[in-house]
Amino acid sequence: MDNKQFDVMFSGVIGQEYETLKLICPLAAKMSRFVGESIAEFAKTHSDKTLSVLELGGGTGITTLSILSSSESIKVVSVDSEPTMQSQAKQNLQQWVEQGRLTFDGRDALSVLSNTASASVDIMASAYTLHNFLDIYRAEVITEIYRVLKPGGKFINGDRYGLDDLTAHTRTIQNEVAGYFKALIEVNKLDVLQHWIVHLFSDESENHVMRESFSLQQLEQAGFKEIGLTNRCEVNALVTAIK
Ligand SMILES: C[S@@+](CC[C@H](N)C(=O)[O-])C[C@H]1O[C@@H](n2cnc3c(N)ncnc32)[C@H](O)[C@@H]1O
Repeated sequence: MDNKQFDVMFSGVIGQEYETLKLICPLAAKMSRFVGESIAEFAKTHSDKTLSVLELGGGTGITTLSILSSSESIKVVSVDSEPTMQSQAKQNLQQWVEQGRLTFDGRDALSVLSNTASASVDIMASAYTLHNFLDIYRAEVITEIYRVLKPGGKFINGDRYGLDDLTAHTRTIQNEVAGYFKALIEVNKLDVLQHWIVHLFSDESENHVMRESFSLQQLEQAGFKEIGLTNRCEVNALVTAIK
């Protein structure tokens, strides 16, 4: 199945104005840095070879850049099914394409994974992408990520992981919404504000939200070991696991 509902959301104003995300969610750039640091840590103990990274939801290239900067011995395939987003990454990251360290794939995550050989990828890295997936699509993606990773390979995802404490979670989201209004009214970006609020309703819907405990159990059930959640800040956190 595809995930059209979400693709549409990133093809319009949000896709064109993605940089304004820095105003309403400074953590987004920080999370990409955490993803890069986690890869650098992995690369230190695997310094004898070139590491293949499959990035899901590369967007405009913020996370991709952090991944590429984490180690010289990294080669990345960056997947994003939304041309409005991926074309910005292609522009921003041309020099790494020329160096032969980066290629792009415009198919959706599950199609790419389904067409990737078992035990062929060292690292699956992603930021702020998996939470957008419908829960049933995400379940298939997690199973496929486990299959395509090499034994010892690493899953790294910086993303929105909902708090198990629902009251605390709601309070955090309320603060987040207040922050969107404050930041975007200040710069008179009311159209972007409208689209992010609409988008947030999708993020927070029952069939999208990635609740912390459930998500970690889902990784365990897929077969992952050494599952950890770190760097939590509000609803954002870094999740890593080893095949
Ligand atoms: C919020 S952006 C994150 C971009 C980047 N990682 C960052 O942190 O700035 C999520 C990206 O995932 C892409 N995406 C969503 N669903 C997808 C799918 N099923 N397959 C591939 N890409 C998808 C969207 O087009 C979008 O560019």
